[in-house]
Amino acid sequence: MQIVITGGAGFLGQQLARMLLGRGQIMGRSIQKLFVFDTNPAQLAADPRLELVRGDITDPQTVRTLLTDETGLIFHLAAVVSGEAEQNFELGMQVNLLATLNLLERCRELGRQPRLVFASSVAVFGGDLPPVIEDGTALNPQSSYGTQKAVGELLVNDYSRKNFIDGRALRLPTIVVRPGKPNKAASTFASSIIREPLQGQTAVCPVAPATRMWIQSPRRAIENLLHAAELPPDAWGNNRVVALPGLAVSIQEMVDSLQEIAGEKVIRRILWQPDPFIEKIVGGWPVDFAPQRALALGFRADHSIAEIIQAFIEDELPK
Ligand SMILES: NC(=O)c1ccc[n+]([C@@H]2O[C@H](COP(=O)([O-])OP(=O)(O)OC[C@H]3O[C@@H](n4cnc5c(N)ncnc54)[C@H](O)[C@@H]3O)[C@@H](O)[C@H]2O)c1
Repeated sequence: MQIVITGGAGFLGQQLARMLLGRGQIMGRSIQKLFVFDTNPAQLAADPRLELVRGDITDPQTVRTLLTDETGLIFHLAAVVSGEAEQNFELGMQVNLLATLNLLERCRELGRQPRLVFASSVAVFGGDLPPVIEDGTALNPQSSYGTQKAVGELLVNDYSRKNFIDGRALRLPTIVVRPGKPNKAASTFASSIIREPLQGQTAVCPVAPATRMWIQSPRRAIENLLHAAELPPDAWGNNRVVALPGLAVSIQEMVDSLQEIAGEKVIRRILWQPDPFIEKIVGGWPVDFAPQRALALGFRADHSIAEIIQAFIEDELPK
């Protein structure tokens, strides 16, 4: 089995690559080759099965070389994140939408119906939302990023219906705690306010403590991406898109849990500086979901914010 991860040098891409190489098999087949594709270099330990490919997904010729007759599974994670796609409309359209279409077109051209897992986002929902988002709630994204992801989902569905791919699209909650440095996602602060204080640094929180978010840990996100790849085509029926289960949590609850785990001194490192640009984007995201379909399909959520913070400490901080 040959696998391609686009955006493989990103946060989720690298964790997914490590997990795949550690398992050694997926969909009942052993992993012969894992192509980690990105504009940026990935920080992954050398492995005879691993090939790091640097390139720009917006270039059709690059994608033509990347995907071959041998490609059995694609995790399409390459994207320009929410804040950046909002500020740079053209770049967001190129990477999030046109490159996704181009990738799907390459799959169609190959005619081998590879399995494809697409990372979508809850940012496809927005506007006048019902109190609880059900599986059938209409999409009404209020950002260019959300719109690009929504179109990507529709394309994954249609290319699957036409048997050009065996696609699956997951609406990921905001993933917390992200290791490393803040990025240009509007949600980046949700990780910063835990990650930085735990490492003796200050972090800015640009939204009010009462702000609530729908989140998932990196551990669960990777587990769910792998589960999506392994589900048989029949499990999906005529809808290849699912909103993942998550945890609805307020910023105040995150801070309280951090205080319980790490103490008062740590949470004093959070600086409360409201930013209307971020507040507007984050405030438009849905928080309360009834992810019945995802649960029935076997996708999982985290149990508590405390568990998520503990997992970050275990997985990412020096012992
Ligand atoms: N992390 C989250 O909270 C979250 C939430 C919802 C959805 N998602 C989606 O999950 C996926 C992975 O998220 P992440 O947090 O790992 O993001 P990330 O920004 O860490 O990774 C995305 C990767 O895509 C690469 N990329 C961007 N433009 C490219 C191009 N033109 N050619 C090749 N590579 C390019 C970037 O270099 C980066 O390494 C994304 O599609 C994102 O939209 C993430």
